[in-house]
Amino acid sequence: MSLIVLVSASGSPGVTTTALGLASTWTRPVLLIEADPTGGSAIAAGYLRGSVTPPEGMIELALGHQNGRLLDALARMSEDLPGTAARFVSGTRSHAQARSLVGLWEPLADALRSLEDTGQDVIVDGGRLGLFGSPEPLVAAADLALLVTRTDLVSLAGARSWAETLHERFARDGATASLGVLLVGEGAPFRAREVARVLRVPVLSSVAWDPAGAATLSHGAEPPQARRWHRWVGRTDWTDSPLMGSLRATRSAITGAIRANAERIDTTGRGRHA
Ligand SMILES: Nc1ncnc2c1ncn2[C@@H]1O[C@H](COP(=O)(O)OP(=O)(O)OP(=O)(O)O)[C@@H](O)[C@H]1O
Ligand SMILES: [Mg+2]
Repeated sequence: MSLIVLVSASGSPGVTTTALGLASTWTRPVLLIEADPTGGSAIAAGYLRGSVTPPEGMIELALGHQNGRLLDALARMSEDLPGTAARFVSGTRSHAQARSLVGLWEPLADALRSLEDTGQDVIVDGGRLGLFGSPEPLVAAADLALLVTRTDLVSLAGARSWAETLHERFARDGATASLGVLLVGEGAPFRAREVARVLRVPVLSSVAWDPAGAATLSHGAEPPQARRWHRWVGRTDWTDSPLMGSLRATRSAITGAIRANAERIDTTGRGRHA
């Protein structure tokens, strides 16, 4: 089991879209957890267009924890995510429920860790850092925590102080290799190398700027038409869109980084799970 947590510092750079897109391209069993304490399941309202009313996943997990049955609640609250092979735990309905989440994150991190041998990875949409009820203990426990940002100056100004704070926290654990930056729309205007220099955290990967593809994930819009030359060879889906291509590349970068960290921990004994 690998725990991958996506968060942002400011704005709405595309955390939910990217987390969902990654889950939909994952090649191993994967559980997507909507842990953004803002409230109102963005995935149910957006990607699923309100077609289903998911159970109050996070609240049920909090209750399960209070009753000493967190793992049972996790199994009960995970549902199939339509159109993907992923499972999904939906977020809270309201920001007012964030209070119930505060005591959940640490035990949830432990519970997820106890699933180590199931072969199921976990991707967490952690929302914006610094909110009341933010899942920072999950960030701290992650095999890979990714600060998602766009590359314009305003976004980078917002991301900078959180990059610094996260870097300090991970450095204290000797786990800086478990922290990275994920760009949405590299080169608009700054390139990965420039962003890494400003944020002083390595850029792991970039997700392509693709508003039409992104709207399919974030708002349940119709997938963009396949390009003509793809249709000629009988491909009608959007798997060849810039967004999906970059999500597959990001998935490989994530799994590669986690594998490299695990190998390094095995040889040096230093790192997140030492
Ligand atoms: N790769 C992308 N290319 C173009 N637009 C994108 C991309 N990723 C996300 N978007 C768009 O950006 C907007 C915000 O996306 P999303 O809701 O995923 O952000 P977020 O970081 O989860 O925001 P919040 O903090 O409000 O939850 C949406 O309209 C979405 O379609
Ligand atoms: Mg979001």
